[in-house]
Amino acid sequence: GMIDKGGYRHFMEKEIHEQPDAILNSLAGMTGEDGRISANMSREELQAIDGIVMLAAGTSHYASQVARYWIEGLARTPVACEIASEYHYRNPVTTGITTAIAISQSGESLDTLKAMRHAATCGLSTIGLVNVDGSTIAREADAILPTHAGPEIGVASTKAFTAQLTVLISFAVALAEAKGHIDAARADAIHDQLQALPGLVGKSLKLFDDLRPIAHQLKHARSTIYLGRGHLFPIAMEGALKLKELSYIHAEGFASGEMKHGPIALIEDDLPVVALLAADELMEKAASNLKEASARGGRIILIADERAVNDIDFEADIITVPAVDPIIAPILLTIPVQILAYLTALDKGTDVDQPRNLAKSVTVE
Ligand code: G6P
Repeated sequence: GMIDKGGYRHFMEKEIHEQPDAILNSLAGMTGEDGRISANMSREELQAIDGIVMLAAGTSHYASQVARYWIEGLARTPVACEIASEYHYRNPVTTGITTAIAISQSGESLDTLKAMRHAATCGLSTIGLVNVDGSTIAREADAILPTHAGPEIGVASTKAFTAQLTVLISFAVALAEAKGHIDAARADAIHDQLQALPGLVGKSLKLFDDLRPIAHQLKHARSTIYLGRGHLFPIAMEGALKLKELSYIHAEGFASGEMKHGPIALIEDDLPVVALLAADELMEKAASNLKEASARGGRIILIADERAVNDIDFEADIITVPAVDPIIAPILLTIPVQILAYLTALDKGTDVDQPRNLAKSVTVE
């Protein structure tokens, strides 16, 4: 039947809440008959993938940037992430690249479609990672990696993003297994974590109440910065995109370690700094970057794995998600980041489902 808001105030709010199902269904699409992670490609097809270029726009581009850490780290396969609107007017060197993955919720973004066609012209095989069955990118790609997030109506992408990440980490595991870079035990351990993810996301949906007072303050900000390291750096950029597109507050995501090379000059008293932290090998370094920002007057809003906040020795508003294997932290930490942008826009009174100047799917250049 008709898609309605199902009792929620906005499609975005509804779609944030649909993420446990979007992840579950997308993971099911990446699970073989033997119950193990599968990319629905033969071992030979996977082994033939030697270098990847990812083509995408907006939120889908940030999904590609997270995937680069997974695919290079697990499958030892080089990945380049390209903004689609730039790629299709370049004359790219394809040495060492066999495959283009076009990532698009709608499967209709004209830039991404043109980039995929350009890649095909350059002799690359193409994979479409799309949420809409039968979309143009789905029809034109040589192979498809589907997300099963269901229809996404809110202009700002939420459930499609976490579904894309779920498919991309599964793809990374399948590729790593085909190439012999991961043992079955580690592959199955990641699969177990992914199977637990819908439940953990469900728990994180309870953060609305904790985030409301933070959003209430954030709405007065003129500018904000978002920080993350490693595979949380793209989540910082996605968080900044969500805040700017929904609340019209200037927001920019930086790699925490890059602060000292320039962006720290932006920090003045009470500048909100939304910081992402996982319990991984970069935790201590990332926390010390934040302490530095705090010492300069930044007001830190820390969004973290619950195990990452024990030794925080600077002032911060702290929001925690359940402990997870650090490899899936980017997916889980996305949830509070989305909720914060949603609540800030709601408090400010902007049009959450239909922000000014934006379109759900951009089919022009
Ligand atoms: C538009 C939307 C964004 C989306 C981007 C890419 O700009 O406003 O939310 O991330 O298009 O869309 P796609 O359908 O290609 O993923």
